[in-house]
Amino acid sequence: MQHKEETKKIGAIHSPAYRKKDVGDMGIGLFRPTWAEVDLDAIRHNLRTVRSLVRPDTKVLVVVKANAYGHGLVDISQTASEGGADYLGVATIEEGLTLRRSGVKTPILLLGSATTKQGALDAALENSITLTVYTIDLATALNRRAEALGLHHVPFHIKVDTGMGRIGLAWRNTIKFVNTVRNFGRLKIEGIYTHFPSADNDESADFTNKQIEIFDSLLKELEEMGINIPYRHAANSIGLVDFKESHLSMVRPGILIYGIVPKKGLHKRIYVKPAMSLKTRIVYLKHVDAGTSISYGRTYTTKKATRIATIPIGYGDGYTRSLSNKAHVLIRGRLLPLVGRVTMDQCMIDVGGLDEVKVGDEVVLIGSQKGGVITAEEIAELANTIPYEIVCSLNNRIPRIYKHISPK
Ligand SMILES: Cc1ncc(COP(=O)(O)O)c(C=O)c1O
Repeated sequence: MQHKEETKKIGAIHSPAYRKKDVGDMGIGLFRPTWAEVDLDAIRHNLRTVRSLVRPDTKVLVVVKANAYGHGLVDISQTASEGGADYLGVATIEEGLTLRRSGVKTPILLLGSATTKQGALDAALENSITLTVYTIDLATALNRRAEALGLHHVPFHIKVDTGMGRIGLAWRNTIKFVNTVRNFGRLKIEGIYTHFPSADNDESADFTNKQIEIFDSLLKELEEMGINIPYRHAANSIGLVDFKESHLSMVRPGILIYGIVPKKGLHKRIYVKPAMSLKTRIVYLKHVDAGTSISYGRTYTTKKATRIATIPIGYGDGYTRSLSNKAHVLIRGRLLPLVGRVTMDQCMIDVGGLDEVKVGDEVVLIGSQKGGVITAEEIAELANTIPYEIVCSLNNRIPRIYKHISPK
């Protein structure tokens, strides 16, 4: 096998639009040239798009859980807050605490479940993290800790299960539950909400409409009882686009804020910009003969003499192994195939007869380059998953570099 190497000093990222500081802040240098660029202007744009889809008085809770879908919890939350987000949604108290420690003042709702442990409740109470409550045990414990800390009117949101089957009160028990917890002296019911499991599936439209109907009738019943809960919410991204009746007084978009659509074809109907690009550079390039096998398991063998590029990213970064022999990348604006298995830290690309390709060339795994585009949605389809998982899986071995353009 012929192994002719090409080497070149690999340059750093030279783009004034990106702050070097962000890389330093994470304690990670770009000694390995693999990074994700996050365009905060796209986040602002997408938030404006969401706003344009709802009534002016409808509040917007931006879902920032799971490191803001992999985009960076703090930077996205700050940008969303500056862009007018009314609430931020997290999955864990720890995520909420990270935001408060970073100086984020926007109200935060814990969308996930809280335990009744004193430490967790005190952390939430002392940092104004609004809890989701759907058991009497949690309401009782929260009320008790609020009293111990001398707090009054502690807001919380009630979660009602109208069909998700995850967390929340069985909807038939809602009125009884509200009647009990409204008398808890230190607490205030600020919100009530439900969640759609299948609003992205046209065949489930009847199911989603039924959920909306059930939730609406509960809200009506509460109103008739003189109980007015300010934040009533149900709509996730697809709910807010396709089920306008679900907007109520607040919507909870996640994926759309990141410029990714939850349903095929939606990009034609609403204009959101993908905020994240995933990039690396070629670190090694070699000529190989026909019949050369590439990577673990020898799942790819070259059909003719070619050049194989090695790029420093792998499943250890969250670039999933299921993309082996399936994904393409962009190099010099050309779509080129990823060949052989994705390994923990590296992958190989068959660059064929493109002589101009050199060590150090930028490789785009998600994003655009010279007119070529690879979307998270396409990568998800190849990996047989959803785009949510593709972006959430990119772990903190990949530095996020934020593009800051001042808001217009
Ligand atoms: C309770 C809840 N609301 C809203 C969302 C946002 O959903 P999407 O990203 O589809 O807009 C999520 C996301 O998982 C969620 O769990």
